[in-house]
Amino acid sequence: MDKLIYTGKAKQMWQTADPNVLKVVYTNQATALNGKKKDQIREKGELNNQISTLVFDYLIANGIPTHFIKKLNDTEELVKKCQMIRLEFVTRNVCAGHFASRFGMEEGRVFDQPVEELFYKSDELGDPFLNNSGAQGLGFATADDLQACWHLSERVNTLLTILFRRAGMQLVDFKLEFGKLPDGHIVLADEFSPDNCRLWDLKTRQHMDKDVFRRNLGDLTVTYEEVLHRLQKALGKEN
Ligand code: ADP
Ligand code: TMP
Repeated sequence: MDKLIYTGKAKQMWQTADPNVLKVVYTNQATALNGKKKDQIREKGELNNQISTLVFDYLIANGIPTHFIKKLNDTEELVKKCQMIRLEFVTRNVCAGHFASRFGMEEGRVFDQPVEELFYKSDELGDPFLNNSGAQGLGFATADDLQACWHLSERVNTLLTILFRRAGMQLVDFKLEFGKLPDGHIVLADEFSPDNCRLWDLKTRQHMDKDVFRRNLGDLTVTYEEVLHRLQKALGKEN
């Protein structure tokens, strides 16, 4: 019998009979403003499970080590259980969101090179910013861990920028999480969906990610359906 071990803001984690394998259940909950804005969104769990599966399959096919094992059904997947590194690795190609507000800058400026930012994953503290030295000083990660994670983030950025462009979208920014397997290897974990990245339509600049929910711009389900369909088409995996 699977046992619920964690309920997060968007997913539940279940321990399976295999101590090294977790079942992830994608829920329909959407949150913003550090949990202050919360809603149930029709089919969001199903859509994110499908989108994340497509993205992880593509990354694995391109040599990225990940926790992903397989999609089980509409809302569930199996992953390798990791000891998570409690850091959020954010990469920004284009100025948007908190970066724009922090620097008083308009959204849309393309950076001369990707901007990499690190945050300590803590809802209580509101995910505070820290740099590599802070993460090492506080014992959250070693220099080798950080180098490995940033190297993987850069490869993911290159691969996904190409994939989303093929699908008619600009990969504006994204957040990744990493974990360690029992043998010490670092793998990409968590999910990759429009919940944790920004995607803009290449032609119209329309928002195609969770900003639609954060900023009340329209129907999130319809938006995520469009992202899924475009990805399926770009990958030649139309149903
Ligand atoms: P949050 O914890 O931020 O509310 P979620 O609702 O997405 O986020 O919950 C998923 C949780 O599972 C996250 O805390 C994430 O760090 C963790 N996680 C993701 N992948 C793995 C994994 N392979 N092994 C263990 N924990 C994981
Ligand atoms: P930000 O502009 O709000 O800092 O977000 C940058 C990117 O990181 C954006 O794609 C959303 C993602 N992100 C998360 O997935 N989780 C978070 O807790 C935060 C703050 C950002």
